Amino acid sequence: MFLKNCWYMAAWNHELIDGKLLARTILEEPMLLYRGESGRVVALDNRCCHRGAKLSNGRMEGDDIRCMYHGLKFDPAGKCIQIPGQDNIPKGLGVRSYPVVEKQGIVWVWMGEAAKADASLILDIEYLQNPKWRGVPDYMHYKADYRLIVDNLSDFAHLAFVHTKTLGGSEEYAYKSKPLAIERLDDGFRVERWHMNAPMPPFLNKFWRGVSHVDRRNIGRMYVPGIFFLESLFAPAGLGLEKGNREGAKEYRNCQFFTPETRKSTHFFWNYLHDHDLDDPTIALSLRDSMVAGFMEDKFIIEGQQEMLDADPDFKFHGIVSDAPLAHFRRTLQKRIDEEMNPPEKLKAVS
Ligand code: FES
Ligand SMILES: [Fe+2]
Repeated sequence: MFLKNCWYMAAWNHELIDGKLLARTILEEPMLLYRGESGRVVALDNRCCHRGAKLSNGRMEGDDIRCMYHGLKFDPAGKCIQIPGQDNIPKGLGVRSYPVVEKQGIVWVWMGEAAKADASLILDIEYLQNPKWRGVPDYMHYKADYRLIVDNLSDFAHLAFVHTKTLGGSEEYAYKSKPLAIERLDDGFRVERWHMNAPMPPFLNKFWRGVSHVDRRNIGRMYVPGIFFLESLFAPAGLGLEKGNREGAKEYRNCQFFTPETRKSTHFFWNYLHDHDLDDPTIALSLRDSMVAGFMEDKFIIEGQQEMLDADPDFKFHGIVSDAPLAHFRRTLQKRIDEEMNPPEKLKAVS
């Protein structure tokens, strides 16, 4: 069902401030996340191995966590290090700990075999900590299979109907601004799209005044298991953006992360950053609010779609041409899941 041997975004690091014990289910596994007193981030199974109480209802002690039902204490590796009223601690007693890495403001967890966790596989999102960019990290919960949300992002055709009033979607943008290319990659896809002389999108018009039409370039990149980057470049129309003239141009970077909570619910993390007027904090807030408005439009459609799919588990999708990127992505993801469940060593052993 899920790809396990990969890094998933588990939290923004600001969710772990002030000694917070964050309970978050990821791939249907209840997890506790916290920052210990030394500053290290810890990810443990949220079920106490004694009788299953929530460790997130417990008490942090240094970098350790104490279950506040009968007081068992666990270290950051999940090992039980104290049983109040009992001297002997059975060997191997403890809870699962997950490999965890904090990078560029993101807490990443590895959900598969710990021995395979390789921090160098974590994507580098340089602009999240580069002072040339400003944004507001945010979170939204979805009652839908994360693949439906990834489908939505891979699909330009919906812009014309879902986002006309917010993100500047139009039938012209959806159909006439043909992508330069869809690159089908082993870990997802890349798409580059130009839209010339288009009306200024409503979300930019809120703070970018005096320009009625813009040239726009969007580069989208989707990664397995569900991470999307969008680089957007806008400039007043007709100044030659396509020939490299950046006069009056403004740039945006949008990263989005879809982490399955269960097979029918998703954690959605995102940040939309801008590179101009960095001394004005209202721009990042305006962009955040505009994105929330746009994402709520998607959420309304997708959660309704999930309800319909639930009503008939045998329902089959029927593809149309604009589904090409999402169909490729679903195939790529499924191939990785199949390989993980049936690795070549295992297949050889069977044959
Ligand atoms: S359930 Fe945690 S100590 Fe008893
Ligand atoms: Fe959308």
